[in-house]
Amino acid sequence: MLKQVQHDVAIGVWLLGISRYLVFTVFFSDFMRIFLIGFMGCGKSTMGRTLALSLNMTFIDLDTFLEEKYFRTIPQIFAEEGEANFRLKERKVLEEVAAFDDVIVATGGGAPCFFDNVDLMNNSGLCFFLDVATSSLVSRLITAKTERPLIKGKSPEELHGFIEEMMEKRRPFYEKARYILKGIEIRADQVIELIK
Ligand code: S3P
Repeated sequence: MLKQVQHDVAIGVWLLGISRYLVFTVFFSDFMRIFLIGFMGCGKSTMGRTLALSLNMTFIDLDTFLEEKYFRTIPQIFAEEGEANFRLKERKVLEEVAAFDDVIVATGGGAPCFFDNVDLMNNSGLCFFLDVATSSLVSRLITAKTERPLIKGKSPEELHGFIEEMMEKRRPFYEKARYILKGIEIRADQVIELIK
């Protein structure tokens, strides 16, 4: 009987320890992770770099991180292995960076829309959706230098239709973000104000 009580007390103390650790980690840890999500061309990387400078955090562009890890460019991975394999790789690197401390991560436009990636981001940091109008995305993407396999060779009209169609599917994922910032003039200080 005494042994059983001692055993139960020991388990109780152990559980108490674990829960205090979890509460501390979730609410009181002083490191931070910020994830910027949104359609291609919405300005995640530019915003990420500015934020990282202002907040003295490390900026990670998830696409670049992936390219460096696999020694191939995204267009190469799409061409050689197809989109499905790219998404698996993207998930893998996302898991990796979601464990880093004090980082600002600009994700690829599709990243939140596959697997439970957006939940992973919400559970490991603060997620911001940069919600930019289709017409602004078109004008940015038309002049962009980065090669993007999903929109390669599209005319401005085709691109407009493609974005509208994709956005309808992707929006529910993007809108799972903790914060939604609308418009092309989203500024870094607005983000900083929100996380203070
Ligand atoms: C993609 C967006 C790209 C890149 C890949 C696929 C997408 O990133 O991850 O070409 O599915 O929207 P950016 O949003 O940085 O262009």
